[in-house]
Amino acid sequence: MTDLVPRIALNQGPLIPQLGFGVFLVDPAMTQKTVESALEVGYRHIDTATGYNNEAQVGAAIRASGLKREDIFVTTKLRNDHHKARDIKGAYQRSLDALDIGYLDLYLIHWPMPLVGYYVEAWKLFEGFLAEGTTRAIGVSNFKIPHLQRLMAETSVVPALNQVELHPVWQQKELRAFQDQHGIKAEAWAPLGQGRYPLDSIPAINAAAAAHGKTPAQVMLRWHMQEGIIAIPKANSREHQAANLDIFDFELTPAEMAAIQAADGGHRLAVDPDDVNSD
Ligand SMILES: NC(=O)c1ccc[n+]([C@@H]2O[C@H](COP(=O)([O-])OP(=O)(O)OC[C@H]3O[C@@H](n4cnc5c(N)ncnc54)[C@H](OP(=O)(O)O)[C@@H]3O)[C@@H](O)[C@H]2O)c1
Repeated sequence: MTDLVPRIALNQGPLIPQLGFGVFLVDPAMTQKTVESALEVGYRHIDTATGYNNEAQVGAAIRASGLKREDIFVTTKLRNDHHKARDIKGAYQRSLDALDIGYLDLYLIHWPMPLVGYYVEAWKLFEGFLAEGTTRAIGVSNFKIPHLQRLMAETSVVPALNQVELHPVWQQKELRAFQDQHGIKAEAWAPLGQGRYPLDSIPAINAAAAAHGKTPAQVMLRWHMQEGIIAIPKANSREHQAANLDIFDFELTPAEMAAIQAADGGHRLAVDPDDVNSD
């Protein structure tokens, strides 16, 4: 299964597996087991964050897996309270220490926190982490177009990707078009909608699922793959972990893709990043 996941070239060089595994809301007490299971099932891309309180357990799972470090792509993120306290270097070192896997593949600013007004300065420190080689790429999360415009105008490294809420009901078409112009990849958090709508509530997705003998969740993830979006679904159960990887043996037709594109609700379902300015 691992070999079937496409790898996408980031603008800073590294290749990222297009389908990864997210660990938001995975209980720290269960995280090592859950990530070990995900690695056994075939994931080679793990998305954590300091704010998820499970970096150490992700690192322990990776070390216990017996896999080569270079075969796993690991992302973590700067937590808002550390960002707000301008404790960027300290937070980064604590993430490296907690994961204890030698280096990061990708370090993200978790939220821009525009009212705090420090993301440009934080990014300049991120550029230093990239230059020193302790992370292979740097990027952002929850950035809207004005945040990206300001970042690119005032700094020198273009973010490798922007991890944002993105799923069939909130497709982020305008942001993705902007990012395409600047070589910034789109990465979807909540690719399955995070439980904000029933997975079987979109007729176009149900029709495609029936046509291909797949579940609505598998069609949603396949839609991301064919759109060129990186997706990091979370799943506690091994059954869902395996099902979410089993999406490389069918292809949505252009008509099915168009029908899902037309299902875009045109508005986000989770919080607006402009309204997040603290933990
Ligand atoms: N940057 C950010 O601000 C941000 C914000 C949120 C999330 N994220 C990242 O994105 C990742 C994914 O987002 P998310 O976890 O919020 O939402 P999600 O992946 O869209 O949805 C996860 C939910 O879907 C269920 N699920 C998974 N596979 C399924 C399947 N095949 N059939 C039916 N249900 C299924 C899971 O249940 P079970 O667990 O019971 O299987 C869980 O309840 C996170 O884990 C995190 O790494 C980032």
